[in-house]
Amino acid sequence: MKLAIFASGNGSNFAAIAEAVKEGTINAELVLLFCDKRQAYVIQRSQELGISTICFEPKDFVNKAAYEQELLQILKVNQVDLVVLAGYMRLIGPTLLKVYSNRILNIHPALLPDFPGLHGIRDAFEAGVIETGVTVHFVDDGVDTGPIVAQESVFIDEKDTLEMLEERIHQVEHQVYPKVIQETIEKLSKTNEWKWSVEG
Ligand code: GRF
Repeated sequence: MKLAIFASGNGSNFAAIAEAVKEGTINAELVLLFCDKRQAYVIQRSQELGISTICFEPKDFVNKAAYEQELLQILKVNQVDLVVLAGYMRLIGPTLLKVYSNRILNIHPALLPDFPGLHGIRDAFEAGVIETGVTVHFVDDGVDTGPIVAQESVFIDEKDTLEMLEERIHQVEHQVYPKVIQETIEKLSKTNEWKWSVEG
């Protein structure tokens, strides 16, 4: 099974997944990192690990469909089976979703359906809830709305600062995401639909 990771920023989840692939706890080949931000630190991480690293931005294209068409072509050429979003700060559009439906995973730093959107950790913290967490889900055309694959709770202590909570959430993400990616690969490899095809 071949994986591609899409990321836009720091890339700590990317690093955790790449490490799990290297150790063999994720039984797949990590064929490429795609990044849509030229300044993102994840690019450096990926290059240092010797992973094929591709970067371009939507503004390089006439529209989002053309941007995603280029991405789709790259995924097809590399025979990518599963796309893993790891801090990819962009909605996946119909061009990619049509071909990769149920083959794009995302991680969100809250217990969906609570606190979707860009600031899941901060929103939970400011709402004063005592329990938040992380969610891994398949991507659909909504904002953090696709079918949930796994969730893990993180409790908020009254002494927590936002930074402390962020730190704990990220630690949980780095444990949970590689594990769930491997479980997803195992489940989906058993189904007939789970075959990469040029017809896509
Ligand atoms: C993570 O909190 C993830 O849940 C969210 O974006 C953040 C990415 O962090 N989707 P990093 O770039 O992996 O460090």
